[in-house]
Amino acid sequence: MSSRRPTIGVFDSGFGGLTVLKALLELVPDADYLYFGDTARLPYGSKSVETVARYAVEAAHYLESHGAQLLVIACNTATALALDRITAAAHVPVIGVVEPGAEAASSVSKNKKIVVIGTEATVGSQAYRKALEARGLHAREKACPLLVPLVEEGWVEHPVTEQVARIYLGEAFSDGFGEADVLLLGCTHYPLLKPLLQRVAPSHVNIVDSAESTARAVAVRATELLPKQTSTSEERRATPRLKFFATDSVEKFRRLGERFLGHSIDSVEHVDLKE
Ligand code: DGL
Repeated sequence: MSSRRPTIGVFDSGFGGLTVLKALLELVPDADYLYFGDTARLPYGSKSVETVARYAVEAAHYLESHGAQLLVIACNTATALALDRITAAAHVPVIGVVEPGAEAASSVSKNKKIVVIGTEATVGSQAYRKALEARGLHAREKACPLLVPLVEEGWVEHPVTEQVARIYLGEAFSDGFGEADVLLLGCTHYPLLKPLLQRVAPSHVNIVDSAESTARAVAVRATELLPKQTSTSEERRATPRLKFFATDSVEKFRRLGERFLGHSIDSVEHVDLKE
C-alpha cells in the first residue's frame, strides 16, 4: 500500500460491508483500502456480545497490523455490540456505522419518529434506539433476520423477499409508528434492497442508509486525521488500491462480493485466524 495516501481498513462479518466500501470509494477516492470479511464466522447477527467482540477485535488487529490508519466497522452488528471494545483495543481511530446512521436519520426526520431494521443482535443491543433517543427521536427497532440470507441468495427483486419485507415492515410501521417518516437501514445487506423497501414501506417514508452516512463521516475524519499524507494532486487522483482478506473461500468471496461492490474483485487473500 502507498505510504503517502491514507490506508483505511474496513471490517465486516462478510460480504455486506462492501456496500460501505462502495460508498467510501465514491466519497473518499483519495485513499487506499484494506477490506476484511470474516466469512468463515458469519453471520454475526445471531451471535452473542462476547463472541462478536472477540471476533471483531481480532479482525481490527489484523487490519492494523497490515497498515490500516483508520478503521471503519462496516458491520452494524459488530458496531452495535462491540464498538467500545474495538475502540479500546485499537491503536488507530475507529468509526462505526451506528452514530453516522442515527445522525443522518435524525436530520431527515421531520416528526422525529423512526423505524430501524437490523439483525437480531443489533436490535437486541438497542444501540440504534439509544443513539436516536439521545438526539430526541422516538425509535422502533425491528429485527428482520430473513433478509440477510435472501440478499445473499441474490433475491433482491424476488416475490418471496417482497412478501417477507411486507410482513416485517407492516409490523414495524404499526401501533403508534404508522406515521414514522424514516426507515433506517441498520444492516450491511439492506442497501441492496432499497428499491424493494421503498416500494413496500408507506409512501411518506424516506430511506436512510447507514452505509452512505458512514462514508460521509469517514470523508470528514479522513481529512482531519490524515491531513499531510495525501500530498501531490497526481497521488490524490490515482485510483484507490484495494486489498481484500477473507477467512473463508476466496472464490466465494469474489463471486458474492461483486454483487455488493458492484464491480469485479481481484486480489483476495485467505486469512486463517486462530481461535
Ligand atoms: N454485517 C451484518 C450487519 O450489518 C449482517 C450479516 C451478519 O449477520 O453477519 O449487521
